[in-house]
Amino acid sequence: MPKLIIDDIPVEVPDGTTVLEAAQSVDIPIPHFCWHPALGKAGACRVCAVKLLDGPVKGVQMSCMLPAMDGMVVSTTDDEAVAMRKSVIEWLMINHPHDCPVCDEGGECQLQDFTIAGGHGIRRYDGRKRTYRNQYLGEFIEHEMNRCIQCYRCTRFYQEYAGGTDFGAMGRAAIVYFGRQDDGPLESPFSGNLVDICPTGVFTDKTARFRARYWDYDMAPSVCPHCSLGCNTVPMARYRELLKTTARRNDSVNGWFICDKGRFSNAGVNAPERPRQALVGGKPVSLAEALDALATLLGEFLELHGPESLAIVGSPRMDLAGNIMAARLREMLGAGTLCLFNETDRAELTGKAVSLLTTENSSSQEDMRNADLIALEGCDLLDEAPMMALAVRQAWRSGARVYMVGTQNEIQSAMAPPFTKGGPGGILQQDQTANPPQSPLGPRGSFVKGGHNREATALPFAFEQVASLADVPLAEAKRPVIICGASRTGLESIGEILSDSTASFDKGGLQPALKLAFILDGPNAFGCAELARRHHGVALSTALADGRIKGIISFEADLSHDLPQGITVLGAADWRPTGLMTRAGVVLPTTTWVEQEGIFVNNEGRAQRFKKVMNPGLPIKGLTPELHPPRVHGIDAPGGDVAPSARLIAMLMQRLGETMAVEPLSGPWETLKDLDATGAGVMIHKGEQE
Ligand code: FES
Repeated sequence: MPKLIIDDIPVEVPDGTTVLEAAQSVDIPIPHFCWHPALGKAGACRVCAVKLLDGPVKGVQMSCMLPAMDGMVVSTTDDEAVAMRKSVIEWLMINHPHDCPVCDEGGECQLQDFTIAGGHGIRRYDGRKRTYRNQYLGEFIEHEMNRCIQCYRCTRFYQEYAGGTDFGAMGRAAIVYFGRQDDGPLESPFSGNLVDICPTGVFTDKTARFRARYWDYDMAPSVCPHCSLGCNTVPMARYRELLKTTARRNDSVNGWFICDKGRFSNAGVNAPERPRQALVGGKPVSLAEALDALATLLGEFLELHGPESLAIVGSPRMDLAGNIMAARLREMLGAGTLCLFNETDRAELTGKAVSLLTTENSSSQEDMRNADLIALEGCDLLDEAPMMALAVRQAWRSGARVYMVGTQNEIQSAMAPPFTKGGPGGILQQDQTANPPQSPLGPRGSFVKGGHNREATALPFAFEQVASLADVPLAEAKRPVIICGASRTGLESIGEILSDSTASFDKGGLQPALKLAFILDGPNAFGCAELARRHHGVALSTALADGRIKGIISFEADLSHDLPQGITVLGAADWRPTGLMTRAGVVLPTTTWVEQEGIFVNNEGRAQRFKKVMNPGLPIKGLTPELHPPRVHGIDAPGGDVAPSARLIAMLMQRLGETMAVEPLSGPWETLKDLDATGAGVMIHKGEQE
């Protein structure tokens, strides 16, 4: 644990910490471009200069490259260090286009911040600026190479961290170009992170281009709803339109990054076809009137068909409070069957997977990144949980062995060929074609390209194939992780492994550190499985199969309209336009995850709060002159008469006679009431809230 002094402040840090990190640990900021906590150091930008006044190293040094050592006396404000940093900024800005007013990065640009902080304001160099041709990189990312400061963060992330090979650094003489060999969409499913990681505006989010400045956005800490991993995000909205989503750091979950599915799946929130109007019998009414009608319908239905005839349907894509309230509605009515999953198989397998997990054995993405052995069974990571593939890659880069359980055919049918371990960034080689495609470096540009000829969707790590989980040498590993889809065969073999583990541990068998991860269906599947266990929920298909159900009321469930003909759909509440709505007596429009506060429980059992980002209502862009600007100013926006499912159920319960205000996070869920949206989350495994 070296002890050093930085700007007169004594600091003690773990071995291997750099001077830059040591300074950050006591809130002393040092400018940096190429260094990044997840990517480490490169020594490329030279802007992190500090002066070593005393100790084992002396003089001006790059703080990101220098390990903290005992006895160092560091100054970040020494004249020589300040002058060095100022010069570096001036050099970097020589070729920069100074186009902040028209650059989408303006306001959230590290280069802009450090240029201003460093006091650089006058461009003394009057030569021509270096310019490049930009590339078309697909529908999501805009490329503007003239802004590049050659920090290499993009290629270090894309090739080394994420394993992509279609993008990289290419050079000729003094020109370095960061792009693809040919114009075309970036192939990596993590390519959107270039937007976050670029310290200036070379890569910007094309889907939000020219729509807002950083300070214009409504934003809040949130959780991605597009798979079960619960990656942390910051959605950004303006004028009631969700414009973009960025990654939010959570070291236990997604680290610094998110996948492209999570980043670029914003359209559904803004979709014109999204339900925004309450309907009764197909006629537009207010939300309050619709709830009145639903209460009446429900009363008549129960009187006519009896208490066993109703199914109250929640879903793994609805937040925890909504599903808790669905359970409370059933308790209050003393009637109906609680169905939080549609399919019998899915309900059983998710319940089984959740029952195998404990706070001790549940694997976070961080556990995967630090594992020394990973076994994968019955899952397609890139499709079902892309960030897990990125986590497994980090373990593999550090030397972990990765095993894929299944026959060759099973594995091949599930995914494209794996990477070969030819280097973290792929093999760069000279393009030998006589007539290379149009080069961004000009007609004579010599191109280098990724050496792997592979499918765009290949897993970013190499693995060994084994026939069964029993063939994986789990006992040899110190930090083994098994990742499994919630499939019957996978669960059975994990069940066997766990019982073997318990039996053989005392004899020096399997490691107690064995961790498990299941990929579930939906951002709140774990929460639904827990609720189903506590409230005796069954799958809707199970409930329908015994013939007692005659009517359903559904909240954010993906049910199709072709339910059995005899089933009455009393009400359907959703923000997605599901087929069920065409059959529903009452349609209740709900808010999306960015228009309300809530909690999702991810695949590990980690409850995470997401905050409200924006007010609901039709996006202002696209409104007709009758609707905007408003002729009569009111509180509600057009299309804003919507509510979170949990609140809709509470209002319905009041209409049905509930006199007490119903708080979803009460009783066993009380501990989640103060859950901090910016914290690491809280584990809710079986028994922890009971
Ligand atoms: Fe140290 Fe770039 S941050 S050289």
